[in-house]
Amino acid sequence: MKNILVTGGAGFIGSNYIYYMLEKHPDYRIVCIDNLTYAGNLETLKKAMENKNFRFVRGDITDRKAVNSIFKAEGFTAVVNFAAESHVDRSIEEPEVFLKTNILGTQVLLDACRKFGNIRYHQVSTDEVYGDLPLDRPDLFFTENTPIHTSSPYSASKASADLIVMAYYRTYGLPVTVSRCSNNYGPYHFPEKLIPLMIINALNKKELPVYGEGLNVRDWLYVKDHCKAIDMIVENGRIGEVYNIGGHNERTNIDVVKTIIKILGRDESLIKYVKDRPGHDLRYAIDPTKIKNELGWEPETTFEEGIQLTVKWYLENRYWWENIINGEYMKYYEKMYGGR
Ligand code: NAD
Ligand code: DAU
Repeated sequence: MKNILVTGGAGFIGSNYIYYMLEKHPDYRIVCIDNLTYAGNLETLKKAMENKNFRFVRGDITDRKAVNSIFKAEGFTAVVNFAAESHVDRSIEEPEVFLKTNILGTQVLLDACRKFGNIRYHQVSTDEVYGDLPLDRPDLFFTENTPIHTSSPYSASKASADLIVMAYYRTYGLPVTVSRCSNNYGPYHFPEKLIPLMIINALNKKELPVYGEGLNVRDWLYVKDHCKAIDMIVENGRIGEVYNIGGHNERTNIDVVKTIIKILGRDESLIKYVKDRPGHDLRYAIDPTKIKNELGWEPETTFEEGIQLTVKWYLENRYWWENIINGEYMKYYEKMYGGR
């Protein structure tokens, strides 16, 4: 029986992956370790808890003792590492925890994989490790051979982790893979990120804070398509390889915001252009040729479908985000956006 450790599974993509895996592989055991930072939410895993093949452990991936003890008890066949500090704006305010979790946490997991039997390891990375592309060169895309060229403390920490993962492959022969995905969106996306923030603010008739002129471009992928790609890589990906994941869904931020306004029937006067993010990456765009040719992966959800599904999910799951946007989140919001 396959027994997969999913780290960071109480967050956005990790939780979607857990639900994807429990449905796709009902015979697998899935164990989630998550220390429930501000971004982790047990409410998200409520339905998974009812599945006898699922176990949740509250624990920190930087805590070597705790990690080793769960590896010893469980006998994992694979590890998929989602656990991370994931928000660029927070990394600009407080970089240290990004380095600790994203780099040292990865190393602790890799060491445990070595110690407990050369366990298959997959690192969930990001297209941000490639830096950005110019806005006036739509012909350029990130391939797996694009040099690492990071901008923010977040992307630098993710790139560092990727390098350590590849070092464990080359030096110790650990069976690893790395995936670098573009921007995800969908259910359980934490409200600090562009799409959920705009949906929630628009629903509450609050200002929609667009950084700079709103012309930066992101390459959006519906989260379920990302989960499917990771499953394919863990099952059939070549050891020691990096796979880019993206579906050619490039949009300027202002287009995304206007689409959400239109779906919700709100007015564009809600848009407020605010001070730009320092070091703001201009454009991300993935070339997914390798994963398509080698593993047959293709995205199934267009942006037009995915954004409708996402807005619908936030409308139907108010309890989920209303619990989050109280308390600590409001302090964060005031700090980041008050007087901006
Ligand atoms: P998220 O912030 O929603 O969730 C992160 C989860 O990790 C939370 O549940 C949090 O509690 C947990 N966590 C944080 N520190 C931990 C620690 N020390 N020990 C255990 N658990 C810890 O993030 P997300 O958007 O779901 O991203 C998941 C992964 O995917 C990250 O590695 C991120 O870099 C990568 N990624 C994200 C995107 C995106 O668009 N969101 C795109 C590409 C790659
Ligand atoms: O590309 C993958 C990355 O995508 C992941 O590695 C990160 O974990 C994830 O957070 C995401 O990073 P971005 O910085 O692209 O996502 P974010 O949602 O923070 O911002 C998307 C764009 O929207 C970006 O150009 C900044 C802009 N933005 C964001 C917010 C929160 C605004 O204009 N206003 C906002 O309030």
